[in-house]
Amino acid sequence: MTRLSIVVLACISAAAITVINGIEHDSVCSGSECADSHHTVIKLVKRDDALARKIADEHDMEIRGEPFMDSHYFAYHKDNTGRRRKREVLQSLEAHPHVDAVHEQIPRRRVKRDYVVNDNERVVAEESSDRSRRASGSSIVDQGISKQRRQAGGGLEIPRLPFRDPLYNDQWYLVGNAVGGFDMNVRKAWLLGYAGRNVSISILDDGIQRDHPDLAANYDPLASTDINDHDDDPTPQNNGDNKHGTRCAGEVAAIANNNECGVGVAFKSKIGGVRMLDGAVSDSVEAASLSLNQNHIDIYSASWGPEDDGKTFDGPGPLAREAFYRGIKNGRGGKGNIFVWASGNGGSRQDSCSADGYTTSVYTLSISSATFDNHRPWYLEECPSSIATTYSSANINQPAIVTVDVPRGCTKMHTGTSASAPLAAGIIALALEANPALTWRDMQHLVLRTANPSPLLDNPGWSVNGVGRKISNKFGYGLMDGHELVKWAKDWRTVPEQHICTYEYKLAAPNPRPLTGRFQLNFTLEVNGCETGTPVLYLEHVQVHSTVRYGKRGDLKLTLFSPAGTRSVLLPPRPQDFNVNGFHKWPFLSVQMWGEDPRGTWVLMVESVTTNANLAGTFHDWTLLLYGTADPAHPSDKVHPPGPPPTGQSILGRMQQLTSQTEDAAPEAISIGDLRSVGDCHEECAAGCHESHSASACFKCKHLQQSLRNRAGFKCVTYCDDGFFKEDDSCKKCSPLCHTCTKAEVCSTCPGALLLIDVDHFAHWDHGQCVEKCPEGLVADYESNLIQARCVLKENFCGAGYFMLPNNGRCSNCDEACELCHGAGPIYCDKCAQGFGNRSVGYCRPCCSNGQKPIDDHCEDCSAAAIASFSHLSHSSPFWSFVWLLLAVSLVGLVIAAGYFFFRDERSRDGVEYTALPRYNAASGAINLDFSDDSDSEDEIMKTGQI
Ligand SMILES: *[C@@H]1O[C@H](CO)[C@@H](O)[C@H](O)[C@H]1NC(C)=O
Ligand SMILES: *[C@@H]1O[C@H](CO)[C@@H](O)[C@H](O)[C@H]1NC(C)=O
Ligand SMILES: *[C@@H]1O[C@H](CO)[C@@H](O)[C@H](O)[C@H]1NC(C)=O
Repeated sequence: MTRLSIVVLACISAAAITVINGIEHDSVCSGSECADSHHTVIKLVKRDDALARKIADEHDMEIRGEPFMDSHYFAYHKDNTGRRRKREVLQSLEAHPHVDAVHEQIPRRRVKRDYVVNDNERVVAEESSDRSRRASGSSIVDQGISKQRRQAGGGLEIPRLPFRDPLYNDQWYLVGNAVGGFDMNVRKAWLLGYAGRNVSISILDDGIQRDHPDLAANYDPLASTDINDHDDDPTPQNNGDNKHGTRCAGEVAAIANNNECGVGVAFKSKIGGVRMLDGAVSDSVEAASLSLNQNHIDIYSASWGPEDDGKTFDGPGPLAREAFYRGIKNGRGGKGNIFVWASGNGGSRQDSCSADGYTTSVYTLSISSATFDNHRPWYLEECPSSIATTYSSANINQPAIVTVDVPRGCTKMHTGTSASAPLAAGIIALALEANPALTWRDMQHLVLRTANPSPLLDNPGWSVNGVGRKISNKFGYGLMDGHELVKWAKDWRTVPEQHICTYEYKLAAPNPRPLTGRFQLNFTLEVNGCETGTPVLYLEHVQVHSTVRYGKRGDLKLTLFSPAGTRSVLLPPRPQDFNVNGFHKWPFLSVQMWGEDPRGTWVLMVESVTTNANLAGTFHDWTLLLYGTADPAHPSDKVHPPGPPPTGQSILGRMQQLTSQTEDAAPEAISIGDLRSVGDCHEECAAGCHESHSASACFKCKHLQQSLRNRAGFKCVTYCDDGFFKEDDSCKKCSPLCHTCTKAEVCSTCPGALLLIDVDHFAHWDHGQCVEKCPEGLVADYESNLIQARCVLKENFCGAGYFMLPNNGRCSNCDEACELCHGAGPIYCDKCAQGFGNRSVGYCRPCCSNGQKPIDDHCEDCSAAAIASFSHLSHSSPFWSFVWLLLAVSLVGLVIAAGYFFFRDERSRDGVEYTALPRYNAASGAINLDFSDDSDSEDEIMKTGQI
């Protein structure tokens, strides 16, 4: 079969999304605050530890620790390598034939999501255990069940409650002692026999006290490592600062009935820790942690992130994004690792977890917190990507979380969303024991379906989404419920394949749209659930990628309305965010429209709440990414009927199709005259059937005929199943090299974590091939389509009107002559700006105004007449052909040279920064692009903001 060169990527309705998104990295360390702890990651073409050491040695470097993600090695310069020498070394490494890539790593600021309390713990502890004992409703379950110690159906051992552990009764969030007698219903899950057996959890943090008496027996060395010191021992450095990871581990897996501290939620699970926060945290440190032993570790729990200071936008870098992707595609034998994330502690600084790219990742379950009296804690951050809530600390002297401590002993003062994520990880471990076949997406479905909003309904901000579930920007879908979760998990059937529909908003002129002062703008998109390919009829994640530039980022507010009327505040105002740049293709996430039918009108409302009428900016773009399934994920879900089916051919055409189709399993020969229909045919049948209600017993199909996977015959479908593609009126099998495809050999998704080539005719690669790594000249894009990572052209991701400075990775304005450009000056225009032309010379220059002459005034005759005469000239005269050829050759040379300088430096993508905003003159409507200084003004404003 010949490959077609024009390919419609399934469900990408608008323009192709080949642009790599620039992810903001406000937390990249700079200046004196970050020690010079830079290290380098060398990616070899393939893993070869001896070769890596040899190459490093040749470059005065040393390899430390184990490689991660196949063939990435941590390399460190030997002492006192000067800057200049370092640069030479990097160049030489890049040129090395066995080196695939070199990433110089810049540390980022990452903070633990607890907060320090002056623990006069003892006093607090005594008081609170008194209260526990007195509280009414205490231990109803414990008392009722302590007699019935027996085996559950599956032969699981049922624990006898209450546990003997001394602090068990202080675990108010487990023993029904939250105000109102609430807890997270974990005891009922235990009493079904679940305790997290054979589930491995790794805490990515500052280490784990693996010999703690309450953890040692559950310690899992395969889920542990030390990335800070590049050895196997994750034991924290005991200097008073590194208790965090161990405390998180205790919440998950502290041993039950051993007279030590309290009990972990999944007290039979295997617990490990990665020591990675006690040192410089770079993209590679995160990637190495997130990708550790992905086939062994089931759940990764992270209670840290970019600073929760209310003014940071930051998210995972390229290696961490790849680690997440590999985790969900290949981890747990293809079922996908489960990443649990603490939503953030910036509540008192009016921070929003929407500005944290880890919690807005579709791959993470982002967990919020509630206090013992069912309120929002002071540190809680709001955003629509939080999926559910677990209990945690409140104010000082109010009950917090009980767990183990470093190096010995226990604490009752574990705090913040830091404490919430591990509790969620523990509950999820119970569900994985109940059903180890659950995928990463199954788990998200289960957590939000079983979360219980009732205890938290006294808080303002709840609403009901389009499928009747209560949602909150504070608590997601409510408090996690261990019992409901394991009950649902046990009988859960894996959800159907996830698909994506991408809708890119076409901004009418003026584009970009100038913004001033206080405003409210609505941008609407009509969505039909995808014209091509498999439709998305049941939403899961909804992402909005948007670029807005504004004089004070914190005054912007973004709200998304779904067709069902669900309102998600994607970005609340953040008063402390004085950044003057805005954000660039930032991926906002809402999980609040889960289950809704996406067809209809979507509205993105962009507002400013500023009081400063002079603030200016520009709105550039937004893209709506709808993730979901074509079929309901659970039989109890309300059915959304598919839209108008694809128009079919005539009966005659269909019959010919039917009889001529031979390459797959041959359908039964049909002679309509001989067959008598039994009636009550499946709705997809046309002209009768030989068995009622069966889609594989039709004589003919209404829409599409798909060969059966394992036997002869066919079934009738509305759209092709995954692994089949539509051709005329039938669905044919994809090549085994594809997971799904649009033509037999043109994949739309790849098996496992393979990458999809998404450029037409690049070198000897064609669109739709699946590869292990991107061929030379293409780069992997893990961001713009999360279902399938792709190889795309290296592209300018600064956005229209900007280009990236090769030396520092900053985005700079194009020359005034260009609308689009890839370098400084008019010679690098990709498109001339209005009032500029390039017809007679190879660059954009001003159009001649009245009376000006092209030759005398060095301007361009942009009149219609000139176009005609010029094109005449250029076609007829050999002289002009020669000039054009010369120009073309030199231009190609320049482009190649420029491209080389731009993209040589992989890390430049991390450090995206912008020059200052164009100043918008509200009176004249003019945007002043002429400014020289690009960074200092911003720093000044930031400082003002901190006062
Ligand atoms: C434990 O998990 C592994 C894979 O993670 C599986 O192969 C094994 O069968 C499981 N054992 C039990 C007892 O469930
Ligand atoms: C934008 O849309 C929302 C929701 O439909 C509506 O409440 C609001 O008034 C609209 N604003 C403007 C300026 O049209
Ligand atoms: C000239 O401008 C046109 C349209 O703006 C563009 O397609 C073309 O690439 C430009 N050529 C040069 C040499 O800049």
